Amino acid sequence: MSTVAERTASTEEPAFPSLVGEAPPSPAGPIEPEEAAGLPKPPVVPLPRAVQMIRFNQRQIQYVFGARRRLGDVFRMRTALPGGPVITSHPDHVRSLFTAKPEQAPSLTGESPLRPILGTDSVLTAVGPRHMRQRKLLLPPFHGEAIDRYTAMIADATEREIDRWPLNRPFALAPRMQAITLDVIMAGIFGIEGRPERGTPEYWMRVAVKRLVAASTSPLAQVGELMNLTREEAIGVIRLGVALLDRPTYAVIAARRREEHLEERRDILSLLLQARTEEGETLSDKEVRDELLTLVLAGHETTANSLSWAWERLVRNPAAHEALREAVRTGDGAEEQVEATIVETMRSRPVVPMIGRRVMVPWRLGPYAVSADTPVTMSILLVHHREDLYPEPFEFRPERWLGRKPGTYEWIPFGGGIRRCLGAALAMAEMRVVLEATARRLDLEAAAPEPERALHRNVTMIPADGGRVVLRGRS
Ligand code: HEM
Repeated sequence: MSTVAERTASTEEPAFPSLVGEAPPSPAGPIEPEEAAGLPKPPVVPLPRAVQMIRFNQRQIQYVFGARRRLGDVFRMRTALPGGPVITSHPDHVRSLFTAKPEQAPSLTGESPLRPILGTDSVLTAVGPRHMRQRKLLLPPFHGEAIDRYTAMIADATEREIDRWPLNRPFALAPRMQAITLDVIMAGIFGIEGRPERGTPEYWMRVAVKRLVAASTSPLAQVGELMNLTREEAIGVIRLGVALLDRPTYAVIAARRREEHLEERRDILSLLLQARTEEGETLSDKEVRDELLTLVLAGHETTANSLSWAWERLVRNPAAHEALREAVRTGDGAEEQVEATIVETMRSRPVVPMIGRRVMVPWRLGPYAVSADTPVTMSILLVHHREDLYPEPFEFRPERWLGRKPGTYEWIPFGGGIRRCLGAALAMAEMRVVLEATARRLDLEAAAPEPERALHRNVTMIPADGGRVVLRGRS
């Protein structure tokens, strides 16, 4: 059998052209009101509002795939409030929204279920000039070159963690992966090596983050989310979790403000404390708090769950698992195989399954038009499961990506445009290191033969059992 490296060496053409295709063109973008008046509106999902909301929250996959089967690439959902989102899954529509002027299609993250937790002042939840300012401020520490500095630290955190995994009994990967990714993001934010020292505010912040994440999976939190329609403030268990997290967070900020020689530090917190607005003002404690929580919460759970999905898929797909093991254990084509496995995982199980924009002018979406002030959601999950883009879309086939780079509007697990994930380079670096080390050192098996269901939590889609595996051997 040829190795991965031989199969892909010196090919100018993609190695597996039949596994990635193209979608037929579909016009999209801002249009004049007169043109919009002449086009039909997208079809509405023909189910009662309450049923749609429950299905969307509990069985989002079945809901969106069912609606696309019946209604096509573009359809409208009805929610409890008037003006439910239009959902699209065509890459040309995605391109029109990602490349739109920010004032024509601002992000819907300002209305996100994360807002009660993260506050209104973070780079994720802000829109308009404030968003651009915060983004510019935070870009340098998340740039590819800056991330290279973290690689050794990610490798250490990984080795430390996997040495503790139990042998021959089932366990969930998600909390274990979360321990690694939480260490990495906290180290980047606070500029500390390894775990924070017991009893320090950083230590209590880490504990509170873990508790808040655990609380947000509880059925109580899910009900709270469904009922929290105004999305101004957290309610129920989440409110309690946020309160417990705020105390150490503000303590960390206060302690750091008192430190001398802040200008010599390169960590993200010190950077935020030294930042000046155009008017020369510093960020308030509340602004710094919102930013820190955003980076910790947006940054570690998403990456941990992506890694858990990678293993959930690998242990049920022997060919992909074997190709990865062979590559990382012989070193032959290892980098490429690891990359292909990550890209295919994020295609088939995007942890953030949809993202949205509010179009402020009439917008064309293929054969349809929507009026100004309509929320338009891009279903990442549906884009990634288009038969024309990805033949056999429900199959897990990392080899699709050997010798091929994913398309900007066809593979969108990190979103795109001026709201593209700020942590994408960090997340990819973490996933490369962790996937390589776990595949090289561990013999993992599925804890049960059936694939894990997807559970929807806040804006994420995670493996319902946390990616349960059995570790049979460790080198
Ligand atoms: C596999 C891991 C990750 C996935 C799948 C992911 C996904 C996404 C997506 C889809 C968006 C766009 C949201 C939108 O347009 O509505 C986003 C934004 C963002 N992500 Fe990530 N993310 C990941 C890891 C990270 C990490 C490690 C960090 C930081 C440490 C991070 C921080 C952010 C921030 C700050 C934004 C807001 C950017 C802006 O609005 O300008 N993410 N992420």
